[in-house]
Amino acid sequence: MTDNTPAYSGPERVFSGMQPSGDLHLGNYLGALINWVGLQDTHDCIYCVVDLHAITVPQDPETLARQTREIAAAYLASGVDPERSIVFAQSSVPAHFELAWYFNCTARMGWVERMTQFKDKAGKDAERASVGLFTYPVLQAADILAYKATHVPVGEDQKQHLELSRDVADRFNRDFDRPGFFPLPEPIIQGPGARIMSLKDGTKKMSKSDPSELSRINLIDDADTIAKKIRKARTDTDPIPGTEEGLEGRPEVDNLVGIFAALSGRSKSDILSEFEGQGFGAFKPALAELAVESLGPVTNEMRRLMNDPAEIDRALESGAERARAISEPIMDEVRQVIGFWRP
Ligand code: AMP
Ligand code: TRP
Repeated sequence: MTDNTPAYSGPERVFSGMQPSGDLHLGNYLGALINWVGLQDTHDCIYCVVDLHAITVPQDPETLARQTREIAAAYLASGVDPERSIVFAQSSVPAHFELAWYFNCTARMGWVERMTQFKDKAGKDAERASVGLFTYPVLQAADILAYKATHVPVGEDQKQHLELSRDVADRFNRDFDRPGFFPLPEPIIQGPGARIMSLKDGTKKMSKSDPSELSRINLIDDADTIAKKIRKARTDTDPIPGTEEGLEGRPEVDNLVGIFAALSGRSKSDILSEFEGQGFGAFKPALAELAVESLGPVTNEMRRLMNDPAEIDRALESGAERARAISEPIMDEVRQVIGFWRP
């Protein structure tokens, strides 16, 4: 498509979020969180606990409130600085609800019907899924664009949702003949941690909804549990190959090597040259040690914060205030662009 419409010219801004449903796992940490932390050095960042997304499937009210704090604690424990960055709960900023409605009128049924996450989550009984689960990616577009965010660090599974966000932004700009009004947000999907797979099946992504606890490492797991899960991770009987081509057809091995690389900040080929020819009897204990060493401080800090929820609440409150201060003027502009009456 040739396009000569002026591009967005506002400042760069980072936005991302995680749902407060279930415990965070190594995939969330390596796919998203560690990138969030690094981006604070170069960008203004907004990190949201997306509780409105969580209620697209039933949630227990008390658990929802506790998990919202827990996810915020995980952000802080991983190194998100609530003074430099904005950390808040989605439901405490009205712009998300409002812009989601406008975007429900911008997005097209066909676009949303293509989303594979809805098909996966709704399963065979899509007729019984909530309407909210269907329009979930439209709310995600609203999250990002309520701040005119330009960059969105996520794991690979969010790629399709980000494409929808770009389509929504572009369509809105065109429908109202306001080229460059919204930026077309770019995903940041990077590093060997962008797609961490189940420890029990290298073809399935590590997920909080997997019924097997052994399939994932949770951020709150203690050292013994982490070591046990790595010991029990599925592998094969061949030795570790020396090159990345040697990982083809060995998804479980590929995954463990990728986890090693992501945790150590090294490349997969570097890890392979270190372990070439060795068996898993040597590799797994080394990986377990690295995982415990990297996650231990995060886990401890999360526990400390959960014992002092006042600190988390302060971060969420000030974050909400700062998020409202950015999104409210943007929403004023949006209402004007749409043409709503005002006295
Ligand atoms: P969710 O837990 O679905 O709210 O996801 C929160 C963030 O973690 C998103 O950016 C996801 O893309 C990322 N994520 C979730 N699972 C994985 C995984 N197995 N590997 C890499 N990133 C993941
Ligand atoms: N859908 C994302 C996930 O499941 C969470 C999310 C909601 C999000 N709103 C967002 C991620 C905005 C990035 C930007 O992981």
